[in-house]
Amino acid sequence: MAAIIELADVHHAYAQYRQEGEDVVRTPAIQGVTLSIEEGSFMAVVGHNGSGKSTLAKHMNALLLPDRGTVTVAGMSTADESRLWDIRQTVGMVFQNPDNQIVSSIVEEDVAFGLENLGVPREQIRPRVEAALDAVGMSGHALKAPHMLSGGQKQRVAIAGVIAMRPRVIVFDESTAMLDPAGRAEVLDTAVRLNHDEGITVIWITHFIEECMAAGRVVVMSGGTVDMDGPPLLVLRERATLRGLGLTAPPMLELSGRLREAGVPLAGDPSTLEQMAEALCPLLSKN
Ligand SMILES: Nc1ncnc2c1ncn2[C@@H]1O[C@H](COP(=O)(O)OP(=O)(O)OP(=O)(O)O)[C@@H](O)[C@H]1O
Ligand SMILES: [Mg+2]
Repeated sequence: MAAIIELADVHHAYAQYRQEGEDVVRTPAIQGVTLSIEEGSFMAVVGHNGSGKSTLAKHMNALLLPDRGTVTVAGMSTADESRLWDIRQTVGMVFQNPDNQIVSSIVEEDVAFGLENLGVPREQIRPRVEAALDAVGMSGHALKAPHMLSGGQKQRVAIAGVIAMRPRVIVFDESTAMLDPAGRAEVLDTAVRLNHDEGITVIWITHFIEECMAAGRVVVMSGGTVDMDGPPLLVLRERATLRGLGLTAPPMLELSGRLREAGVPLAGDPSTLEQMAEALCPLLSKN
């Protein structure tokens, strides 16, 4: 598969202006990131607070432009102003707080909002809104008031608003951070389904490291650079390296690592509770 997003040696520093007469302070946020993201893939991004994840996300749909290096989306450079609309339509973003992303008092109107702004003809809006709500499992809530919904449901409405624009990529920037465990699972499952069923490329930024197990690829950021990059099991079992970056491996991988260190001959890499139980059972029955 071809790359849908390519970052080549991307650098970004935020300029902060102090009081008049004082110098501009520049905070480096991304320092030489090179990444090629395959169309149709599901890539998770983790990293400690301030490691540059959101800055990276904002480069993927031209909300920020690199100081140095290039970002290419479906062959378009984000520095090419004439392609801004195409880039924003290709890469949708879902943010942390569902309440900040909902603008209407009826779910279906909220999902239609972006399409109306784009000037999509009326007769095309309804089928696109219905398809988008269906894709996130919210068809039954089309006429409800968003504030009556749970956090997970609100995020799914926000996702429907993005899907209605028919993006090829969706970047989720900590979209589960404000949700309870049920809501988190709901939103992650929705992203997995959109990736699997609709072929939408997913960039999943999270600080819940166990969510990375749903991805095909995990990128670990630290200090504005990519420090680890690979399949979840290979990256997430590097417990010492993760610890050095201020992160802890997902619970079952942490546990299997510790058991092995304690001399328990555990087979495979159990990463869920069920797998752990399966791996431990034969060892227990031997004794
Ligand atoms: N608007 C801004 N102005 C100045 N500095 C900023 C701004 N936004 C982010 N930074 C700084 O840039 C660096 C990277 O921030 P960024 O928000 O990309 O990290 P992050 O990994 O998303 O963090 P978090 O886990 O807290 O969301 C940090 O040092 C941060 O303080
Ligand atoms: Mg962030």
